[in-house]
Amino acid sequence: MARVLVLYASVDGHTARIAERIAAILRDQGLEATVRSADAVEVLWEIDGHDGVVIGGAIRYGRHPAWLEEVVRERLADIESRPNAFFSVCLSAGGPGAKPEVARGYVEDFRRRTGWTSRQTASFAGALLYRRYNPFVRFTVRMIVGMAGGETDTSRDYEYTDWDAVERFAADFARRMPAAGTPAAVPAHREPAYQ
Ligand SMILES: Cc1cc2nc3c(=O)[nH]c(=O)nc-3n(C[C@H](O)[C@H](O)[C@H](O)COP(=O)(O)O)c2cc1C
Repeated sequence: MARVLVLYASVDGHTARIAERIAAILRDQGLEATVRSADAVEVLWEIDGHDGVVIGGAIRYGRHPAWLEEVVRERLADIESRPNAFFSVCLSAGGPGAKPEVARGYVEDFRRRTGWTSRQTASFAGALLYRRYNPFVRFTVRMIVGMAGGETDTSRDYEYTDWDAVERFAADFARRMPAAGTPAAVPAHREPAYQ
């Protein structure tokens, strides 16, 4: 069975939920899917044991986490040698006050900083989890969101993710994976032992 690694960078947990949904769809499609937070040191080496890689991260203050960029730069050749996909999660991608061009800019920025042009790319709207934030973050995010025309009632949380879009993204990726039973991708920096 072909194996897919779903790596995510999440602070408040919403990107982790999206990663889990992607993995669930991949499993429905007959693939083996492992979901891992990209901040664990060993994920650098886990790519080796997988035939495909899906990587996702949330935006905070205009950027994906620097450590997610680092993981991608470090393993770029191995990511590119397999079916690969990237998803970005932010509030600019959907919901009240959304700015899709800004969301596209975040993806382009990630591409420029890492040198990785993923074979499949998506921006998903995230969540506004006021009840989870500490008072400083709640105040700051409310102010920024309010200026952008978003929702400012901090007594509740908001979720803007289009889960159908997430599922389509995962199903498209599954279609790009080699059929179950075919050999794993050969890492770009190594020659195949035989053909
Ligand atoms: C402190 C903070 C800063 C954020 N900065 C941005 C931003 O600059 N642009 C944007 O579109 N969304 C921004 N967001 C929205 C997050 O990307 C969104 O809430 C996402 O769902 C967070 O994912 P996570 O729960 O996996 O951390 C910010 C959220 C927080 C809490």
